[in-house]
Amino acid sequence: MTPTSSGYTGTAKALHWLIVALLIAQFIFAWIMPEIRRDTPATTLISLHFTFGIIILAVAIVRLAWRVTHREPEPEDGLPPWQTKSATIVHWLLYALLFVVPLLGWMDASRRGMPVEMFGFELPKLLATRAPGWGWTGDVHGLLANYVMLGLVGLHVAAALYHHFVRHDGVLKRMLPR
Ligand code: HEM
Ligand code: HEM
Repeated sequence: MTPTSSGYTGTAKALHWLIVALLIAQFIFAWIMPEIRRDTPATTLISLHFTFGIIILAVAIVRLAWRVTHREPEPEDGLPPWQTKSATIVHWLLYALLFVVPLLGWMDASRRGMPVEMFGFELPKLLATRAPGWGWTGDVHGLLANYVMLGLVGLHVAAALYHHFVRHDGVLKRMLPR
């Protein structure tokens, strides 16, 4: 199915809302899991954070592949160009964060020597255990997720609500399931 000016395809919507659901779970795990220090064991919540993060990375790869091979719907009629341009910038920044954030987390887990497992199989390490000079990966991972990603999502959601409740246009509706 080709996107039209009236909205996103079912696949684009499904991938968008799947990532939203996974991210909600992922932030809950991140905030309630024990603080990770030197030699912290990978307890259930920490392992769930790793596994969900890898699932988000996998869905982000599928989603980006979908985006580059399928046209975005035309912008809603009558939108000021600054709004369509800033929406595009925010969307691409969000796409970038969906890769950078989990990869940094995976690097930090590897550096700490913590296993990252998917369905019982251990995934390869991105960095050697205690690799010198990579201690920043965990800090940048947490800062990007907690501040930059959540800040941009806040802006993105505020824009969607502004279009729906203030401008009364179809911007939010075209991303909602029918
Ligand atoms: C989009 C996916 C992800 C999001 C949104 C996310 C979010 C977060 C957040 C918010 C924290 C900080 C928790 C706090 O406030 O104290 C954190 C910590 C951490 N996450 Fe993730 N995470 C993601 C993916 C991953 C992945 C894939 C891994 C590993 C395979 C991972 C490993 C870690 C580790 C090791 C820490 C502790 C960092 C440190 O303090 O040194 N994360 N994550
Ligand atoms: C309740 C939360 C959310 C709402 C209400 C929402 C709403 C929307 C809407 C209405 C659009 C279409 C915008 C347009 O037509 O220009 C959209 C697109 C998009 N959203 Fe969200 N969104 C939410 C959460 C998120 C999250 C958490 C992410 C990722 C971290 C995200 C990433 C994107 C991206 C990348 C697009 C562009 C779609 C594409 O062209 O592939 N959204 N969102």
